[in-house]
Amino acid sequence: KNEKIQLLRDAIVSYPDFPKPGVIFRDIFGIFRNIVAMRAMKDLIVEHILFLEVDLVVGLDSRGFLLGPIICMELGKPFLPIRKKGKLPGNVVQHAFNLEYGEATFEIQTEYVKKGARTIIIDDLLATGGSMVAAIELLKLSGAEVIECLTIIELSGLKGREKLGIPVHSLVQYD
Ligand code: PRP
Ligand code: HPA
Repeated sequence: KNEKIQLLRDAIVSYPDFPKPGVIFRDIFGIFRNIVAMRAMKDLIVEHILFLEVDLVVGLDSRGFLLGPIICMELGKPFLPIRKKGKLPGNVVQHAFNLEYGEATFEIQTEYVKKGARTIIIDDLLATGGSMVAAIELLKLSGAEVIECLTIIELSGLKGREKLGIPVHSLVQYD
C-alpha cells in the first residue's frame, strides 16, 4: 500500500506560482500520464471503498469525472455528476460556494438520487473544502446519505477537512 502511495506522490507534479503567485499547483494529470501510477490509484480507491457498501458515486466537475466512472466500473454502482451551473438538464438543485481562488455554483440532477442512498463523493483534490461542502449540501437536499468524501490529493494546510462534518479519505497529503 505504501509503495502505491509513493508511486502517486512521485507522479504528481508541483507547479509554483500557478494559477497565481504564491499558489503551488499540484497536478493530478501526472498520474494519468503514468499507467502504473494510474492503476495504483484505482486499486487504492477500490480497496478502500469495497468495505463501505456504497450505492452511488458522485464526482465533482471537472476532474472528479475522471475518477468516479473508473471506480463505478469496479463497484458495479452508478455514477452521478455534480456540475458547475447551467450544464445539467432537468430538475436541478444548486448551491454557491467560494474556491481557493474564485467562486462557483454547483448543480445536481436531484431526481436521480434515491432517498437514503449511501453515497461517496469523489474529486481530485481537497483544498479549502468549499467544493466538498457545496456537494454535501446538494446531496443532503436530494435525500442522500453521504458516507465519505474521497480525494486523491489533500492540501492539509488549508484545513478543508474540518469544514465537512463527514469523514474524508485522501491518498496523498501536502501541507
Ligand atoms: C479544483 C479541484 C477541486 C476544487 C478544490 O477544481 O479540482 O474540485 O478546486 O478546491 P476547494 O476544496 O477549495 O473547494 P476547480 O474549481 O479548479 O475546477 P476544475 O476541476 O474544473 O479545474
Ligand atoms: N491543484 C489542482 N487543483 C487545485 C489546486 C491544486 O493545487 N488548488 C485548488 N484546486
